[in-house]
Amino acid sequence: MTVVVLLAAGRGVRMRSERPKVLHEAAGRPLLDRALDTALAIAGSAARVVVVVPSEGDAVTAHLKSAHPNVRVAVQGPPRGTGDAVRAAAGAFGKAKTVVVLSADVPLLSAAAVSVLVDALKADEKAAVAVLTARVENPAGYGRIIRDRKGACVRIVEEKDSSSQERKITEINTGTYAFDRAFLEKSLPLLTSKNSQGEFYLTDVLSLALRAKRKVATLEGDSSSALGVNSREDLAAVERILRDRKASDAMRAGATILRPETVTLDETVFLGADTVLEPFVTLLGKTRVGTGTVIGQGTVVKDSSLGRNVTVRPYCVIESAAVGDGAVVGPFARLREGTDLAEGVHVGNFVETKKAVLRKGVKANHLTYLGDTEIGERTNVGAGVITCNYDGFAKHRTTIGRDVFVGSDSQLVAPVTIGDGAIIAAGTTVTEDVPKDALALAREPQKNLPEGGAKYREKKKQPR
Ligand code: UD1
Ligand code: MG
Repeated sequence: MTVVVLLAAGRGVRMRSERPKVLHEAAGRPLLDRALDTALAIAGSAARVVVVVPSEGDAVTAHLKSAHPNVRVAVQGPPRGTGDAVRAAAGAFGKAKTVVVLSADVPLLSAAAVSVLVDALKADEKAAVAVLTARVENPAGYGRIIRDRKGACVRIVEEKDSSSQERKITEINTGTYAFDRAFLEKSLPLLTSKNSQGEFYLTDVLSLALRAKRKVATLEGDSSSALGVNSREDLAAVERILRDRKASDAMRAGATILRPETVTLDETVFLGADTVLEPFVTLLGKTRVGTGTVIGQGTVVKDSSLGRNVTVRPYCVIESAAVGDGAVVGPFARLREGTDLAEGVHVGNFVETKKAVLRKGVKANHLTYLGDTEIGERTNVGAGVITCNYDGFAKHRTTIGRDVFVGSDSQLVAPVTIGDGAIIAAGTTVTEDVPKDALALAREPQKNLPEGGAKYREKKKQPR
């Protein structure tokens, strides 16, 4: 049996953040959740994963309790190093044969790499620990793997404790280990904090193993999966890798992405075949895009579903909305939460919708606010129409029937209902319900003063 310990109690000082490092997000998900996925995949059950947290009441613990309630936590208290952190989890080792230790700030590690590491430990009875290493171009900040002349790993030296010679070594410790549980248990109390950081280093267990005539196994993994996040730059590097991967996956699945390097896709986004993403499109959260849909330049979509063959023109912002097949949106439209556009709806430029249900074939093409409203099939909403849904105290609903024509620059003062087939004259302020097929007209009758324009010009001494 294997117990997986996930270290998440560090301060993450180098992030310079109020937020705990492991709760920083890469491609829309906290680092901790990514590492936890790996831990769960290795352990096979949540019961065998222990996350080391800084305290009972901190943000990391709160996040775990709400997002992963079945995972065990062990409280470290003030962070005094990775060795001290593993010590905090020792109570959960039980009689496990192997203890895998992962760092929550290494988000790209795969479960497959760890299982090969566990195999490497098991392959040699004398091995007390197996360490996953990587060769990287820039090893700065990582612990370096020190090998003897025969190539055996003899210790790991932290950057801050290293000599200039050691700093040249490009093989680094990924912070991923498989330990013989019995040996680890015996070694943890022997760790000291005699080093430049005054911390209990887990890596010192390696030297203890050699002293006990046991062996240290190493396995070299690939360099990108080793990426540890200690700074905002590291976070950006991880983000870039994840986004590139996602864009490649989407293209392989049949999406056209015109300038992949400019597009931002969360991993949780689904793109159907033959969708087209123009440059600088951002798709976030649980967004789903149907087959044949085109999303115009600079558009941001979050937690929304777009149907098939939808056209989203450039620079729209769409959040928690549903857009039906063949609908046309934008440019410059804003669809807010609770917007539900049926098949073939047109929502044009500078239109804002919120909690708005627009039935099949509705058109609202220009400069309009539609909030807390339901609009029946084929109704046409003219330019500049506003549902006045807020009276300063509460929100009210506007219900518009089918085949209605709402003339330009009308205000619909909610609560109000407009019957099927009604026509609202341009510039009308609707304050009362309009019956089916009625014509509503509420504006000052127009006066024309003969020659009034000419007289006015004369008064201003302006030629025509
Ligand atoms: C550690 C390793 C280093 C390795 C690197 C890989 C040690 C001494 N060093 O360095 O060899 O190359 O990871 O990324 O182990 N943590 C706790 N409690 C603590 C301190 C840390 O839970 O008291 C957690 C952190 O939240 C983090 C992980 O342990 O998830 C690693 O800690 P960090 O401070 O980032 O260590 P590094 O300096 O990166
Ligand atoms: Mg680190």
